[in-house]
Amino acid sequence: MRLPKAGTIEIAPSILSADFANLASEVQEITVAGANIVHLDVMDGHFVPNITFGAPVIAKLRKYSDLCFDAHLMISEPEKYIADFAKAGADHITVHIETTNDPVGLINRIHDLGCTAGITLNPATKLSSIEKVVHLCEMVLVMTVVPGFGGQSFMEDSAKKCIELRNLVGADTRIEVDGGIDPTTASVVVSYGADTLVAGSAVFGKDNRKEAIAAILEAYK
Ligand code: DX5
Ligand code: ZN
Repeated sequence: MRLPKAGTIEIAPSILSADFANLASEVQEITVAGANIVHLDVMDGHFVPNITFGAPVIAKLRKYSDLCFDAHLMISEPEKYIADFAKAGADHITVHIETTNDPVGLINRIHDLGCTAGITLNPATKLSSIEKVVHLCEMVLVMTVVPGFGGQSFMEDSAKKCIELRNLVGADTRIEVDGGIDPTTASVVVSYGADTLVAGSAVFGKDNRKEAIAAILEAYK
């Protein structure tokens, strides 16, 4: 599925907190629960101090799901790998501004590969670093934890970047937030202008994923 057009609030459960031995059924469960996007955290042990999975796992999972595959590449030298992720079936590919000197080239390449594109920035990185490229992206990701691990505490100062970002991009671009999102912080980020909420432990860390997703969706109503 393509990235849903801006105008709706979407929960994007991150499989980082799912059972990696049963990914197909885990993704099936959030599909039944109403999620349209699944967030795929790719870590290389270099840009971030943790290793998760790469394109081959995404390609296998693609056979079992029609959800929008939202690949968050926390990897050095993303230009070497984006074609592999597109080929594996990623619908949307996000790269970190800290990993490239040519964000425009990278975003154009992602589009040429038939995917929607995203740029993101670490909590310590200033919003001005992505200002020139946000208008090229269908979705901009604001990290609300230092990337690398699930289950960390929400950083409200980073979330506040969404306010200025929303003014910059207008209503037609999605703003995604990632890290420490739960029913309490969800309402905060939505009030700042975010519309796409990544949730790892708040969804896959719970036994009842349907209730977990509903609890987040209820929180900002
Ligand atoms: C952090 C990842 C996140 C992570 C979020 O490096 O990019 O997507 O899975 O996990 P929670 O929701 O548990 O903070
Ligand atoms: Zn992520």
